[in-house]
Amino acid sequence: MTEQTSPPDLSTTAGKIADLKVRYHEAVTAAGEAAIEKQHAKGKLTARERIDALLDHGSFVELDEFVRHRTSAFGMDAKRPYGDAVVTGTGTIHGRQVAVYSQDFTIFGGSLGEVAGEKIIKVMELALKTGVPIIGILDSGGARIQEGVVALGKYGEIFRRNTAASGVIPQISIICGPAAGGAVYSPALTDFVIMVDKTSQMFVTGPDVIKTVTGEDVGMEELGGALTHNRTSGVSHYLASDEHDAFDFARALLSYLPDNNLAELPQYESAVELEITDDDRRLNTMIPDSPNQPYDVVDIIDHVVDEGSFLEVQPLFAPNIVVGFARVEGRSVGVIANQPNAMAGTLNIDAGEKAARFVRFCDAFSIPILTLVDVPGYLPGTDQEWTGVIRRGAKLLYAYAEATVPLVTVITRKAYGGAYIVMGSKQLGADMNLAWPTAEIAVMGGQGAVNILYRNEIKAAEAAGEDVAAVRTRLANEYTYNVASPFLAAERGELDGIIEPAATRVAVIKALRALKGKRASLPPKKHGNIPL
Ligand code: HXC
Repeated sequence: MTEQTSPPDLSTTAGKIADLKVRYHEAVTAAGEAAIEKQHAKGKLTARERIDALLDHGSFVELDEFVRHRTSAFGMDAKRPYGDAVVTGTGTIHGRQVAVYSQDFTIFGGSLGEVAGEKIIKVMELALKTGVPIIGILDSGGARIQEGVVALGKYGEIFRRNTAASGVIPQISIICGPAAGGAVYSPALTDFVIMVDKTSQMFVTGPDVIKTVTGEDVGMEELGGALTHNRTSGVSHYLASDEHDAFDFARALLSYLPDNNLAELPQYESAVELEITDDDRRLNTMIPDSPNQPYDVVDIIDHVVDEGSFLEVQPLFAPNIVVGFARVEGRSVGVIANQPNAMAGTLNIDAGEKAARFVRFCDAFSIPILTLVDVPGYLPGTDQEWTGVIRRGAKLLYAYAEATVPLVTVITRKAYGGAYIVMGSKQLGADMNLAWPTAEIAVMGGQGAVNILYRNEIKAAEAAGEDVAAVRTRLANEYTYNVASPFLAAERGELDGIIEPAATRVAVIKALRALKGKRASLPPKKHGNIPL
């Protein structure tokens, strides 16, 4: 590299070009070696390294690299680095255009002042008007303390853009450091939040404030680390082992999503086999004979969608329901499935909210939904009732009932009570409802029904000294066979068909082909009032 010895001669074109190069160099190295080393020592990449890792090689086009703050308070005018504390621009992922911003912790702790806010708002607006996904990489001490209300105001403007963009362009947040205070609400408004294990934290009030106000002792990681938000709060949708894993997940996620709500879904090559294969036949043995024996529904999903295409989202939160994207004939679908391996696949508040948000995302972006049902019912208990299973559980009903995308539902085993209705039932508006012969559809399971319907018979058996457990089991089996049989639902047209499990993959392909031209709309309204 040639060292700049004297200032360029600005009276010449060559001098002006040299001056540009000097300034550009200054902009991209504004942090200085020491700050970059400090960032690396924490196991974190710099804002620019992150963009390079996320985007296709060499595709990044920077915006606003010469923006500088205008603050003089607290001696800020002594330090006015080019670009301020965020790097913004456009680029491609898998050759498709995206917009990106990456907060630069090495400059003022990535804090958001007036001009950093303006840069983010500008790139968000560019994404919105050009209809491309926006990805935010967050690593920031929050609102710039020296700038006060101006900084807070910019957050407000960002939230407004996040909300305007919701359902129009996919929005992904990748948290690579702190996201503190009200700053957490920008990622919260986006569609997917990815957090990096051990190096990212999100909280509205930090450990010190909590200690002062409530007396609770809690560390930063336990309070708002990646594991906490993936497993406990459900704020995050993916726990990345490191930053590269986070960017890989974001790239994988985008491969399923359209650029915007009016764009076509991505279409990938896929070799379609419309005959039942040996692999399909494995589905015939996946449901255990005992209705209480669990199994991993992900194995079933893997056998129904294009091979290797299932990408689970939010796997650690509410594991009793599985959501994720997959491809059928190379085209994206959203998959929702009860997971018998966790809490017997019951529905609870967390599962309802997780699935509801996923249904609404798919519907907003015209991604057809495949629902696999094996649900014994809602999780009973005061905890659920008192924390609002009625109000919060209603979200999933609302989401399915409002969805106008193609909805294909396959009942594999249990579909009891309200949970039957909520999980993509015909009555809620699903287009193609299929069941396996192993399906059980009724108001409640056999054991529960027998306790109510055959109370007197059981008492009589007890009095007669009979084996009550055997009587109960016989009656429950009779109930399941006679009342919960899927053929009764099929007789009434509540199912469109009963299929051999092995035929599911082909049936789903054909259903989605049939529904490709679906047109449906809701009555005109300003917006609905989903129970929140
Ligand atoms: C200005 C900030 C800053 C901020 C950090 N810095 N946060 N400058 N405004 N909000 C600066 C530091 O002064 C320091 O500058 C540099 O960034 C690196 O910070 P460190 O503290 O040395 O780093 P670290 O030890 O890793 O700690 C990171 C941190 C801590 C946990 C984020 O900096 C911190 O607690 N910051 C304040 C967080 C906060 O309370 N923010 C306001 C949240 S409320 P030098 O020059 O020394 O390198 C909010 C409201 C949003 O954001 C409202 C939306 C409606």
